[in-house]
Amino acid sequence: MHIKYNKSFIDGKFQSFGKLSFEVLNPANEEILSNVNDGGVLITKKAIKSSEIAFKSWSKLTAKSRSLYLENLNKLILDNKNELAKLITLECGKPINESIGEVLYGASFIKWFAEEGKRTYGEVIPTTHENKRMIVIKQPVGVVSAITPWNFPLAMITRKIAPALAAGCSVIVMPSYETPLTALYLANLTSKAGFPKGVINFIVGKDVSSMGKILCNSKIVKKISFTGSTRVGKILSKQSSSTLKKLSLELGGNAPVIVFDDADIDKAVDGTISSKFRNSGQTCVCVNRIFVHKKIHDKFVSKLIEKVKKLKIGNGLQKDTSIGPMINGSAIKKNIDLLNDSISKGGSVLTGGKIIKNNFFEPTVIVNANMKMHFFKEEIFGPIAPIYKFENDKEVIEMANNTDYGLAAYFFSENISRCWKTAEKLEYGMIGINEGLISTEVAPFGGMKYSGYGREGSKYGILNYLEIKYLCFGL
Ligand code: SIN
Repeated sequence: MHIKYNKSFIDGKFQSFGKLSFEVLNPANEEILSNVNDGGVLITKKAIKSSEIAFKSWSKLTAKSRSLYLENLNKLILDNKNELAKLITLECGKPINESIGEVLYGASFIKWFAEEGKRTYGEVIPTTHENKRMIVIKQPVGVVSAITPWNFPLAMITRKIAPALAAGCSVIVMPSYETPLTALYLANLTSKAGFPKGVINFIVGKDVSSMGKILCNSKIVKKISFTGSTRVGKILSKQSSSTLKKLSLELGGNAPVIVFDDADIDKAVDGTISSKFRNSGQTCVCVNRIFVHKKIHDKFVSKLIEKVKKLKIGNGLQKDTSIGPMINGSAIKKNIDLLNDSISKGGSVLTGGKIIKNNFFEPTVIVNANMKMHFFKEEIFGPIAPIYKFENDKEVIEMANNTDYGLAAYFFSENISRCWKTAEKLEYGMIGINEGLISTEVAPFGGMKYSGYGREGSKYGILNYLEIKYLCFGL
């Protein structure tokens, strides 16, 4: 595939800054896909200036006019579905069917907020004085920045820019340097969709820490929405304190799935596989710990193993691939370390456990997992599925909540009373009940504890980009 765009997109144009560049690799074969101009600090400053100017006119448009630009962009994304999906697979390794799913998922945020932007209603407050009238209006927060990860090179951008643009904010997107090519392709689509220059700027560079610092320290940038690790989320939070910037942080997870003794086992196996192995285990909502009641443990494990063995590992461009490569060598190393740690503490590998070549790691199931193993507390972000046995509800809910994270949790039970009670007790922002795939543009995505704060998607997602203003009229 010919890669067309390899520079930052500022003021409606692709622009190079300086002579530095960095390589973007295909994780499936480590071939260089493109050399991308490294815009660094200079480009970040230019983008802030450009977004500041663009905000003035973009924020004054009616919600209906802004919605039309978003509708154009939605159509263009869908028209270019196959090319975008191929680019996603090339730079992040995801199986092509999942990449097509990501394009549809990504477009769905644009469509949703094109509509939702028209409904950011204010309120009239019943007055406390005969001669006063009280009203609340909502206004865009200003210039915002979207800092996005490599595991969803398209959808994590659209989930942030769609509500921001619909609310009337201008946006600076800083995509991951591992996967900037999809982002730059999207930049070109925003230009085709007719967005005025500067309303969306895309900055690409490898020195993300300096670029991030400039965004955090800028008084012009009023908000940052970040998806990525808890470690980086904490740095951004600290750096943003000097400007009291608004933040939305969608950080790491450590999702439990609980399979109760009254679960439909086939449903539980399928739900666990679809959550655990999505994007080769590299999503924040992937199952990280599998708790299975001792009565059904062996039956669940044998059904799970049978299906995991059928997962086909390969280059994501092949249609029948279900497990693509991991993003890079350090991701592989982390998974090997977690695997070795668990074996040294009594874990038994029933299937998988090996590197096939380069960045390909076999889907792996480990039984006899226990709380001393590192992956009890740590996000695996890879295709390892550890199984813990439990005996009663109280014990398993305590174990499930025994983590700093609180993004997604799942459980399987056919008992409605147990379902309600468990859902209420789990300390997580999102709960899948008899379901392993819960992400959608219509529902609030986000977590609690070290998984961050703020919600994306749904009717709540646009609130992050709006200021509430109270008007008091004296008569
Ligand atoms: C993520 O991994 O951060 C996002 C996953 C999703 O939207 O389902």
